[in-house]
Amino acid sequence: MWALVLLSYLISPILAEPSQTQGLTAVDIVISGLKEQAWTDDDQPCLEQTLFILDNVRNYTAWAVWVWNSMHSPVGTFYGSEYSLGNYDQCLNAPTTAADPGLVTQYCLADITLTEKEYGKKHHDVLGSTEPYLATRTPIGRNLNRVIWGTCLPSTCKPDTISKILRVMYQINPLTPSVPRITVDTCEAADKTTEYSFGFYAFMTLTTLLVATSVISTYYIQRSDTKTSFHTIAYAFSLQRNWSALTRKTNDDIGILNLLKVGLVTLAVTTHTAFFEVMGPISNGLHFDDVMLETKNPLLNMVKHIDLPVDNFLILSGMFLVQGLMAKNKKPLVGLVNRYFRLTASYAVVIFYVASVAIYTGAGPFWQKFAGREQQACVENWWLNLLMLNNYINSDNICLIVSWYIPCDYQLAVMGTMLYLLYQNKILGKKTAVLTVLVAVMIPGVVTYWKKLPGFLLYHNLETMLDIRKNDVYVETYIRSHNRAGPYFVGMAMGYIITKYEPKRYRNVISKKLSLLLFTLACVTAYIVATHPLSYVGLQYHHLSSALYAAYSRNLWAIATCTTIAVIEYGPVASVRGIASWHGFAVLSRLAYGVYLTHSIILQQNLYSRRNVQQFDLIYSEGMHGFGILAISVVFSLLLWLFVEAPLNNIVNLFTNSGSKKEIVNQKTKENGEGNSKMSDKIK
Ligand SMILES: *[C@@H]1O[C@H](CO)[C@@H](O)[C@H](O)[C@H]1NC(C)=O
Repeated sequence: MWALVLLSYLISPILAEPSQTQGLTAVDIVISGLKEQAWTDDDQPCLEQTLFILDNVRNYTAWAVWVWNSMHSPVGTFYGSEYSLGNYDQCLNAPTTAADPGLVTQYCLADITLTEKEYGKKHHDVLGSTEPYLATRTPIGRNLNRVIWGTCLPSTCKPDTISKILRVMYQINPLTPSVPRITVDTCEAADKTTEYSFGFYAFMTLTTLLVATSVISTYYIQRSDTKTSFHTIAYAFSLQRNWSALTRKTNDDIGILNLLKVGLVTLAVTTHTAFFEVMGPISNGLHFDDVMLETKNPLLNMVKHIDLPVDNFLILSGMFLVQGLMAKNKKPLVGLVNRYFRLTASYAVVIFYVASVAIYTGAGPFWQKFAGREQQACVENWWLNLLMLNNYINSDNICLIVSWYIPCDYQLAVMGTMLYLLYQNKILGKKTAVLTVLVAVMIPGVVTYWKKLPGFLLYHNLETMLDIRKNDVYVETYIRSHNRAGPYFVGMAMGYIITKYEPKRYRNVISKKLSLLLFTLACVTAYIVATHPLSYVGLQYHHLSSALYAAYSRNLWAIATCTTIAVIEYGPVASVRGIASWHGFAVLSRLAYGVYLTHSIILQQNLYSRRNVQQFDLIYSEGMHGFGILAISVVFSLLLWLFVEAPLNNIVNLFTNSGSKKEIVNQKTKENGEGNSKMSDKIK
C-alpha cells in the first residue's frame, strides 16, 4: 500500500511535466534570440505580441501553436525549390483573438538572399561549404541562393520588424554561416476586408445585361414573327440561332484544318500550363533544369522547340485570309473590318475581366503579387491590345502574356491583304510580292544576328525563360509580326492552291508513291528543325548559326506542314480525311479562339492561388492540369461565343454585309447563309 503511494509520488511529476524532459526547443531559441536583439520603440507592439505568442507556444496553448505551426523552415533549397510557403490558410484563420482581441495574424512573404558573398564561377562542390555552393548559379542559371518564405506574425508588425524577427527565426535552421538578407515582399492581414472597385461592378453589370439580352431575345424570337428592325437586333442575340451557327454542318469545311486547329490549341494550352507552372512554386526545379539541359536526346530537344507549332496558327490564318480574299463576293477592306470585330469582341471582355474582376477571384500567398501584376499590365495597356499594337508598344508590360498572337495575326492580315491587292497589279505586283516574301524570310535572321540573340525562345538563361516578359527573344523577335511573316506567306500560298484547286475536285491527284515521298520529306524536315540542338551545346552561342536557324527554321517548318496538308487533301488517304472530317472537330475549332483567350486566365487562377509547392512532371502533373484547363476553357469559350462573340458578329454583319434588309431577313430562313459562314473563316 505505502509502496504504491510512494511509487505514484515518484512517477507523477514525470507525467505532469513532460516538457522538462525535452530540453531546449526551437521556440526557446527564438525567444532568447529575440531578447538579445536591439529593438526600437516602433518595434515594441509587434515584439510584445510575438513574444506573447511564443510564450504560449512553450506551454502548448492551442491558439499559439496554431500560429507557430503555420510556419516552417525553408526546405528543398538544394533541389531548386524556392518557395517555403508554410500554411497560408491556417495562418489567416488563427483564433488569436480568443486570447487577446487586439492580436490579429498576418501572412507575409519574405524574400531571402541566403548569402551576399560573391564567388567566382565554380563547380558545385558537395564536399565544400554550403555558402559557395548556394551562391553559385546552376549551369542553366538557376539561383539557389534565394528563398521565398511564408511567415505568420502579428499584424502590428511592420516590414522592418518582420525582417528582424525572421533573421532570428532563420537561426533555428540556418543554411549558410552568413547572415541572410531578408526583405518583406507582401503581407496580408487576417482581418482584411475586400472593397470592390467600380470596374468590378461595371463588369458584373455588363455580364448581367448580356445574358439578360440573350435570354429575352431568344424568348422573343420564338414568340414573334414580325420583321421589324427590333426583331433583327433581337435575332442577333438569339441563343438558338447562335448555338446552331456553332454546331452547324457545312460542306466546304476542310476537315484537316479543323483537326489541326484543335490539335494546336490543345498543344498551346498544355504547353502554356507546363511553362507557367514552372514559373510558380515547384519542389523539383533541378528536374526541370535537367530537361532543359539535355541536348543529346532528340525528344527532349523537341521540348525546347515546343513553340514551333505556333507558326501553324499563322499558316492557317494565312490560308483562310487568301480563301476569303479569293471568294469573289467579298471586299478586302470589309474583310479586314469584319476580322477586327471578330477578334476584338471576346478579347475586350477578357481584358476587361483581367483589369477589373480577376483580382477578386482568388487568394493565396502570392495571389496579390502575381494576379496584381497581370491586372496592372491590363489597366495600363488594355488600349494597346484593342488597337492591335501590344506586340510593338510596351510589350515588356503586355496585357495578357499570350495575347501577342492576336495583333501579330491582324497585322499580318493587313500586310497579306495589301500584298494580295498588289499582286493583282500586272506590272509591279508580282515582283514586289516576291521581294516582300524574300525580305520576310531574311528579317528574323538579320534581327537575331544584329541583336546577338539565340535563335529560339527557350534557351539557357532560366531567369529570362521564366519571366517571359523580360525575355529578349520574346520581346525582340517572337511577338513582332515582321519576324513572323514567313510562315504566314507560306500559308497564303497554300491557301491559294487550296482555293484554286478545290481538293474535292482534285482528290487523289498525288499518287501513293509521291504521297509517301512527300510525307517522309515533310517529316524529316520537321524532325530536323524541331530537334536541332542549335548552338547551345556546351552552352556557347554562335551568332551566325543562331541567325541562320532563326531565318530558316520557321519557314521550313511551315513548308513541311503545308506539304502534309497537301498530301492529306490531294493524296490517296481517304481514311485520314474521314477521321479529320468528324463534325466535332469543326465545332471545337470554332471554339478555339475563345479557348485561346480564356485559358491563360484559368491557368493563372489556378497557379496564382496555389498554397503549396507542387512537383514538376511533364506527363502526369502538367499534362493533367493542361487537359483540365483545356476542358474548363472550352466551357468559357462556349459562353463567350453565345453571349458576346456571335451576337456582336451578327450585328457587325448587319452593317458591313451590303446593308440590305432583304438579306438580313433571308438569314432566318437559310441558316447556313452568307452571314453565318463568314464566321467559319475566323482565325484559330
Ligand atoms: C500558458 O501560459 C500562459 C501564460 O504565460 C497562460 O495564459 C496560458 O493559459 C497557459 N496555457 C496553458 C495551456 O497552460
